[in-house]
Amino acid sequence: MIDKDAIARTRIIPVVMLQDAADAVPLARALAAGGLPLIEVTFRTAAAQESIRRIAGEVPEAVAGAGTVINAAQARQAVDAGAQFLVSPGFLPEVASAASELGVPLYPGVATGTEIMQALAAGLTTLKLFPAETVGGVKAVKALSAPFPQVQFIPTGGVSLSNLADYLSQPAILAVGGTWMVGKELIAAKDWAKITELASAAVAKAKEVRP
Ligand code: 3PG
Repeated sequence: MIDKDAIARTRIIPVVMLQDAADAVPLARALAAGGLPLIEVTFRTAAAQESIRRIAGEVPEAVAGAGTVINAAQARQAVDAGAQFLVSPGFLPEVASAASELGVPLYPGVATGTEIMQALAAGLTTLKLFPAETVGGVKAVKALSAPFPQVQFIPTGGVSLSNLADYLSQPAILAVGGTWMVGKELIAAKDWAKITELASAAVAKAKEVRP
Protein backbone atom coordinates (compact mmCIF):
# COMPACT_ATOMS: atom_id res chain seq x y z
CA MET A 1 0.00 0.00 0.00
CA ILE A 2 1.23 3.48 -0.63
CA ASP A 3 1.96 5.84 2.19
CA LYS A 4 2.42 9.54 2.65
CA ASP A 5 6.04 9.30 1.51
CA ALA A 6 5.03 8.11 -1.94
CA ILE A 7 2.69 11.07 -2.29
CA ALA A 8 5.28 13.44 -0.88
CA ARG A 9 7.73 12.30 -3.54
CA THR A 10 5.39 12.90 -6.46
CA ARG A 11 3.27 15.73 -5.05
CA ILE A 12 0.81 15.60 -7.96
CA ILE A 13 -2.07 13.15 -8.35
CA PRO A 14 -3.73 13.04 -11.77
CA VAL A 15 -7.50 12.65 -11.46
CA VAL A 16 -8.79 10.65 -14.40
CA MET A 17 -12.18 9.83 -15.83
CA LEU A 18 -12.13 6.84 -18.13
CA GLN A 19 -15.06 5.97 -20.35
CA ASP A 20 -13.30 2.92 -21.75
CA ALA A 21 -11.14 0.59 -19.67
CA ALA A 22 -9.08 -0.11 -22.81
CA ASP A 23 -7.54 3.35 -22.32
CA ALA A 24 -6.42 2.67 -18.74
CA VAL A 25 -3.12 0.92 -19.45
CA PRO A 26 -1.77 3.32 -22.11
CA LEU A 27 -2.88 6.27 -20.00
CA ALA A 28 -1.17 4.96 -16.86
CA ARG A 29 2.00 4.25 -18.85
CA ALA A 30 1.92 7.75 -20.33
CA LEU A 31 1.54 9.39 -16.91
CA ALA A 32 4.24 7.26 -15.31
CA ALA A 33 6.58 8.02 -18.22
CA GLY A 34 6.06 11.70 -17.46
CA GLY A 35 6.91 11.17 -13.79
CA LEU A 36 3.41 10.82 -12.34
CA PRO A 37 3.01 7.22 -11.16
CA LEU A 38 0.08 7.80 -8.78
CA ILE A 39 -3.25 7.80 -10.59
CA GLU A 40 -6.69 8.47 -9.15
CA VAL A 41 -9.30 6.71 -11.28
CA THR A 42 -12.68 8.19 -10.45
CA PHE A 43 -15.78 6.11 -9.82
CA ARG A 44 -17.78 8.41 -12.06
CA THR A 45 -17.85 6.04 -14.97
CA ALA A 46 -18.80 2.41 -15.38
CA ALA A 47 -15.24 1.71 -16.53
CA ALA A 48 -13.62 2.72 -13.21
CA GLN A 49 -13.28 -0.66 -11.52
CA GLU A 50 -12.01 -2.46 -14.63
CA SER A 51 -9.61 0.42 -15.33
CA ILE A 52 -8.11 0.09 -11.85
CA ARG A 53 -7.86 -3.68 -12.30
CA ARG A 54 -5.95 -3.30 -15.56
CA ILE A 55 -3.55 -0.65 -14.24
CA ALA A 56 -2.87 -2.68 -11.11
CA GLY A 57 -2.30 -5.83 -13.15
CA GLU A 58 -0.43 -4.51 -16.15
CA VAL A 59 1.42 -1.31 -15.22
CA PRO A 60 3.88 -2.05 -12.42
CA GLU A 61 5.41 1.41 -12.68
CA ALA A 62 2.06 3.02 -11.73
CA VAL A 63 -0.01 3.01 -8.55
CA ALA A 64 -3.75 2.97 -9.09
CA GLY A 65 -6.06 4.58 -6.58
CA ALA A 66 -9.79 5.22 -6.70
CA GLY A 67 -11.45 8.62 -6.61
CA THR A 68 -15.02 9.83 -6.12
CA VAL A 69 -15.55 6.97 -3.68
CA ILE A 70 -18.85 7.92 -2.06
CA ASN A 71 -19.87 4.74 -0.25
CA ALA A 72 -18.41 1.64 1.36
CA ALA A 73 -19.42 -0.62 -1.54
CA GLN A 74 -17.32 1.41 -3.96
CA ALA A 75 -14.41 1.34 -1.53
CA ARG A 76 -14.59 -2.47 -1.53
CA GLN A 77 -14.91 -2.67 -5.33
CA ALA A 78 -11.91 -0.38 -5.72
CA VAL A 79 -9.66 -2.31 -3.37
CA ASP A 80 -10.84 -5.61 -4.83
CA ALA A 81 -9.63 -4.33 -8.21
CA GLY A 82 -6.25 -3.35 -6.78
CA ALA A 83 -6.67 0.26 -5.70
CA GLN A 84 -3.95 1.23 -3.25
CA PHE A 85 -5.56 4.43 -2.02
CA LEU A 86 -9.03 5.96 -1.90
CA VAL A 87 -10.13 9.55 -2.41
CA SER A 88 -13.59 10.97 -1.64
CA PRO A 89 -15.11 14.32 -2.50
CA GLY A 90 -16.40 14.54 1.08
CA PHE A 91 -16.19 12.82 4.45
CA LEU A 92 -18.47 9.89 5.26
CA PRO A 93 -17.86 7.67 8.32
CA GLU A 94 -18.86 4.48 6.42
CA VAL A 95 -16.20 5.13 3.80
CA ALA A 96 -13.60 5.83 6.50
CA SER A 97 -14.52 2.59 8.30
CA ALA A 98 -14.35 0.61 5.06
CA ALA A 99 -10.94 2.04 4.20
CA SER A 100 -9.68 1.20 7.65
CA GLU A 101 -11.01 -2.39 7.42
CA LEU A 102 -9.54 -2.77 3.94
CA GLY A 103 -6.20 -1.41 5.10
CA VAL A 104 -5.87 1.36 2.51
CA PRO A 105 -5.36 5.06 3.06
CA LEU A 106 -8.36 7.32 2.50
CA TYR A 107 -8.04 10.98 1.60
CA PRO A 108 -11.51 12.44 2.21
CA GLY A 109 -12.64 15.79 0.90
CA VAL A 110 -13.06 18.61 3.39
CA ALA A 111 -13.79 22.30 3.03
CA THR A 112 -14.75 23.42 6.54
CA GLY A 113 -13.55 23.17 10.12
CA THR A 114 -16.44 20.88 10.99
CA GLU A 115 -15.52 18.41 8.25
CA ILE A 116 -11.88 18.47 9.31
CA MET A 117 -12.91 17.72 12.89
CA GLN A 118 -14.99 14.77 11.71
CA ALA A 119 -12.08 13.41 9.69
CA LEU A 120 -9.68 13.87 12.59
CA ALA A 121 -12.11 12.01 14.85
CA ALA A 122 -11.90 9.10 12.38
CA GLY A 123 -8.12 9.17 12.70
CA LEU A 124 -7.44 10.80 9.33
CA THR A 125 -4.93 13.64 9.01
CA THR A 126 -4.15 13.74 5.28
CA LEU A 127 -7.19 15.40 3.73
CA LYS A 128 -8.23 16.54 0.30
CA LEU A 129 -9.30 20.19 0.21
CA PHE A 130 -12.17 20.21 -2.26
CA PRO A 131 -13.09 22.10 -4.38
CA ALA A 132 -9.84 23.90 -3.62
CA GLU A 133 -9.99 27.02 -5.76
CA THR A 134 -13.68 27.54 -5.12
CA VAL A 135 -13.31 27.44 -1.33
CA GLY A 136 -10.41 29.88 -1.26
CA GLY A 137 -7.35 28.07 -2.59
CA VAL A 138 -4.07 28.83 -0.85
CA LYS A 139 -5.80 31.34 1.45
CA ALA A 140 -8.17 28.63 2.65
CA VAL A 141 -5.26 26.27 3.31
CA LYS A 142 -3.48 28.92 5.36
CA ALA A 143 -6.62 29.77 7.33
CA LEU A 144 -7.51 26.13 8.05
CA SER A 145 -3.93 25.24 8.96
CA ALA A 146 -3.96 27.66 11.89
CA PRO A 147 -6.36 25.64 14.06
CA PHE A 148 -5.40 22.31 12.45
CA PRO A 149 -1.57 22.21 12.24
CA GLN A 150 -1.69 18.39 12.27
CA VAL A 151 -3.47 18.28 8.90
CA GLN A 152 -1.70 17.80 5.58
CA PHE A 153 -3.81 18.93 2.63
CA ILE A 154 -4.17 17.64 -0.92
CA PRO A 155 -6.00 20.53 -2.64
CA THR A 156 -7.95 19.42 -5.69
CA GLY A 157 -10.34 21.31 -7.94
CA GLY A 158 -9.08 24.20 -10.02
CA VAL A 159 -5.40 23.37 -9.69
CA SER A 160 -3.39 23.81 -12.90
CA LEU A 161 0.16 24.41 -14.11
CA SER A 162 -0.35 28.14 -13.51
CA ASN A 163 -1.12 27.91 -9.77
CA LEU A 164 0.65 24.65 -8.93
CA ALA A 165 3.71 26.38 -7.47
CA ASP A 166 1.57 28.57 -5.18
CA TYR A 167 0.01 25.48 -3.68
CA LEU A 168 3.12 23.33 -3.44
CA SER A 169 5.12 26.07 -1.73
CA GLN A 170 2.80 25.83 1.30
CA PRO A 171 4.20 23.62 4.08
CA ALA A 172 0.70 22.35 4.95
CA ILE A 173 0.24 21.01 1.43
CA LEU A 174 1.42 17.47 0.84
CA ALA A 175 0.36 17.30 -2.80
CA VAL A 176 -2.27 18.51 -5.24
CA GLY A 177 -4.72 16.64 -7.45
CA GLY A 178 -6.13 17.64 -10.80
CA THR A 179 -7.27 16.81 -14.27
CA TRP A 180 -5.30 19.35 -16.25
CA MET A 181 -2.84 16.80 -17.68
CA VAL A 182 -5.52 14.20 -18.46
CA GLY A 183 -8.27 16.17 -20.18
CA LYS A 184 -11.08 14.12 -21.70
CA GLU A 185 -10.26 15.36 -25.20
CA LEU A 186 -6.69 14.06 -24.85
CA ILE A 187 -7.93 10.67 -23.67
CA ALA A 188 -10.57 10.52 -26.43
CA ALA A 189 -7.85 11.31 -28.98
CA LYS A 190 -5.54 8.75 -27.32
CA ASP A 191 -2.87 11.46 -27.34
CA TRP A 192 -0.61 9.65 -24.88
CA ALA A 193 2.46 11.63 -25.97
CA LYS A 194 0.78 14.91 -25.06
CA ILE A 195 -0.27 13.48 -21.69
CA THR A 196 3.34 12.48 -20.99
CA GLU A 197 4.44 15.98 -22.01
CA LEU A 198 1.91 17.66 -19.68
CA ALA A 199 2.85 15.31 -16.84
CA SER A 200 6.55 16.14 -17.33
CA ALA A 201 5.79 19.85 -17.31
CA ALA A 202 3.89 19.48 -14.04
CA VAL A 203 6.75 17.50 -12.48
CA ALA A 204 9.26 20.14 -13.62
CA LYS A 205 7.14 22.90 -12.06
CA ALA A 206 6.87 20.98 -8.79
CA LYS A 207 10.65 20.53 -8.72
CA GLU A 208 11.11 24.31 -9.00
CA VAL A 209 9.32 24.62 -5.68
CA ARG A 210 10.96 21.71 -3.89
CA PRO A 211 13.78 19.97 -5.79
C1 3PG B 1 -12.49 16.48 -9.54
O1 3PG B 1 -12.84 15.73 -8.66
O2 3PG B 1 -13.08 16.67 -10.62
C2 3PG B 1 -11.25 17.19 -9.24
O3 3PG B 1 -11.49 18.10 -8.28
C3 3PG B 1 -10.59 17.76 -10.43
O4 3PG B 1 -10.81 19.10 -10.58
P1 3PG B 1 -10.11 19.86 -11.79
O5 3PG B 1 -10.76 19.37 -13.05
O6 3PG B 1 -10.41 21.31 -11.52
O7 3PG B 1 -8.64 19.55 -11.76
